[in-house]
Amino acid sequence: MRIITAKTKARDYPIYISQQFSEHFPLLIRKNFKDSEKIILVTNDKVFGIYESNIKNTLDKCSLPHEIVVIRDGEENKNLQKAEYIFGKLVDFNVHRNDIITAFGGGVIGDLAGFVASTYQRGIRLIHCPTTIVGQVDSSIGGKVAVNYSGIKNIVGNFYQPHMIFIDPTFNHTLEEKQIINGLGEVVKYGIIFKKKILDKLSQSIEDKKEDRLFEMVRSDIFREIIYMCCSIKAMVAQKDEFDISYRNLLNFGHTIGHCIESALEFKGLSHGEAVSAGMIVAIDISVSLGLCKKEVKEWILGIYKKLKLPYRIPEIDIDKIVCALKYDKKFKTMQNKFVLIKGINKPVFIYDVDRGVIIDNIKKSMYNYI
Ligand SMILES: NC(=O)c1ccc[n+]([C@@H]2O[C@H](COP(=O)([O-])OP(=O)(O)OC[C@H]3O[C@@H](n4cnc5c(N)ncnc54)[C@H](O)[C@@H]3O)[C@@H](O)[C@H]2O)c1
Repeated sequence: MRIITAKTKARDYPIYISQQFSEHFPLLIRKNFKDSEKIILVTNDKVFGIYESNIKNTLDKCSLPHEIVVIRDGEENKNLQKAEYIFGKLVDFNVHRNDIITAFGGGVIGDLAGFVASTYQRGIRLIHCPTTIVGQVDSSIGGKVAVNYSGIKNIVGNFYQPHMIFIDPTFNHTLEEKQIINGLGEVVKYGIIFKKKILDKLSQSIEDKKEDRLFEMVRSDIFREIIYMCCSIKAMVAQKDEFDISYRNLLNFGHTIGHCIESALEFKGLSHGEAVSAGMIVAIDISVSLGLCKKEVKEWILGIYKKLKLPYRIPEIDIDKIVCALKYDKKFKTMQNKFVLIKGINKPVFIYDVDRGVIIDNIKKSMYNYI
């Protein structure tokens, strides 16, 4: 078992990475949560369908009374109604501040259960057990919890650091390919911005042509190592800038255009990770156009994208819709845009007020395949 300690103003908490959830989780509960009297595990119907017996066996071994709350799968359920439903269950189960909410699922369950944990009785114990790559390398770490409201993503939320994170990389073995690709977008982002070794390892761990290469990769020892490296980076970034004021904005690489693609597509068709992957290519193209970065860097990254089946083109959508979405992006506040661009691998830089023509040209370049 590997351990990373995340240090934050609210609390320091351990991130355990181990393949044996049902062996280690109960031991950690007994060791780290001696004064807790109950565990409420929140999951969704899809994940519960796959892991029901594992979840039940594990909770039985924790030697604490426990309840399981199952929410319907899907981003559309990350809302206040579902939060209220969980509050109701917590009241019914007579849950107190020293008891534990365990979020068992992807980023949606982590954000929703985390939001509930942050508000119920002004904050109760929270454990994240992320079961997607996005959850493991990104959303469970750093304390952002939220629900969507009135069609706006993550608009009602909190910073609430968990008390423990338990990552079992074998949970990724049951992910569909689309979900693997979704998570790999974030992994590649860490590689480009913070640690080239991640890109080298990704490249090494994957056979070029095999159709099922991504499923093989997530099962490899190298991928477990990659998860560990990504978690260390996310913990370090969140520690440096807990409330997302400056340094943590580096994590927005590819997100400026990515969000606009998602919104122009009305959040259908491409996953968040896929949109960010395409957005990172536009950000690299803009970096090349501005003379910050060499063309060869993009070619090298494209090679990795192809191995990982990451989308590098923007689907042909009305370009005005993308440009219009840019205006509402929070990185464009006060009418001054702010891009995370690169001067090379692991050389990120914030650039303000990128010329609108340069942005549009490079969006078109990705859309019409002038690579
Ligand atoms: N809090 C943060 O810092 C942060 C960061 C990034 C993303 N997010 C949020 O995370 C959410 C996206 O997370 P996600 O990509 O994990 O989506 P998700 O939680 O919807 O999971 C994706 C799909 O995979 C399924 N799934 C989960 N675990 C599985 C497993 N082990 N095997 C098979 N299927 C499994 C889910 O049921 C779902 O259908 C968004 O709501 C986003 O806003 C939050």
